Amino acid sequence: MNENMKDRLQSILDEAMQSIQQSDALDKLNDVRVSFLGKKGKLTSVLKGMKDVAAEERPIVGQMVNDARQTIEQHLEETKKRLEKAIRERQMEEETIDVTLPARRASVGHRHPNTIALEEMERIFIGMGYEVVEGPEIEYDLYNFEKLNIPANHPAKDEQDTFYINKDIVLRTQTSPVQARVMEQGKLPIRMISPGRVFRSDEVDATHSPSFHQIEGLVVDKNITFADLKGTLEQFAKELFGPETKTKFRPHHFPFTEPSAEVDVSCFKCGGKGCRFCKGSGWIEILGCGMVHPHVFEMCGIDPEVYTGFAFGVGLERIALLKYEIDDMRLLYENDDRFLKQF
Ligand code: DAH
Repeated sequence: MNENMKDRLQSILDEAMQSIQQSDALDKLNDVRVSFLGKKGKLTSVLKGMKDVAAEERPIVGQMVNDARQTIEQHLEETKKRLEKAIRERQMEEETIDVTLPARRASVGHRHPNTIALEEMERIFIGMGYEVVEGPEIEYDLYNFEKLNIPANHPAKDEQDTFYINKDIVLRTQTSPVQARVMEQGKLPIRMISPGRVFRSDEVDATHSPSFHQIEGLVVDKNITFADLKGTLEQFAKELFGPETKTKFRPHHFPFTEPSAEVDVSCFKCGGKGCRFCKGSGWIEILGCGMVHPHVFEMCGIDPEVYTGFAFGVGLERIALLKYEIDDMRLLYENDDRFLKQF
């Protein structure tokens, strides 16, 4: 009986050892534990057979069962630790962070071609002592038209059809109303530029948009002449397009300046010989300008007998398109990263 029991225990022990050895995962190891040490486990069933063992042998058999249990438990524990360690190591390996790798770059974008062109123009005029002033995009008809010498039935109002909030308030069609606002404040002399968004009810195409930008300029002082206007804009063109740039003043009409002119610059691509860029003419139109109309002075409370002045208006998009040789204005508004990245 004793021998028999011993053999049986030994075979259970062998079997348990083998099962433990073959366990390659924690859940399998737990299954082994249950199948040998659990309530219905193989070793437990031996204890249940104790009633058949002779009384004097029971302590011995009991001791043997306990020894076997201890051995199995010890091996289970060791194997569990080994498996857990392996899991941890694998995890560490899989989750390693290479702190020496360069960080992923945050994409912060950069300045829009309009902004680059605007800042360049602001730099030029600030260098000549101008102030940068802003005016409202939603403007009174009074400032946008009336005080600029464009009365109710003037044809210029047709060319600058816009979006009306009501009959007195419009989305401004030009930055020129800022001239009237600044003059009305009565602080003289004036030397300012005013960049900003303007609106017209134009269809979108390669050269038109219902919303675009202008930069207005205004100088008012005693003894300001057309020569000052010419010198200023010549200097501006040279700084913007290069020192070789020539300027040409063509007579034109604007209701709020007299005399008025449009300014062309010599083509900076061909130097004035004529190319595709300047459509063969050698010249590129860049802005409108003139001497402030005496009637505008009067409407804004400035005495035209004492003060004179000049004004100009530049299309910002036009300058950005020219400077960066962009052939379609729509590209400036589409926010396509592939386009914007190039500047
Ligand atoms: N406001 C004019 C326009 O949008 C441009 C302009 C022309 C502005 C002559 C001026 C100027 O200040 O003197 O067409």
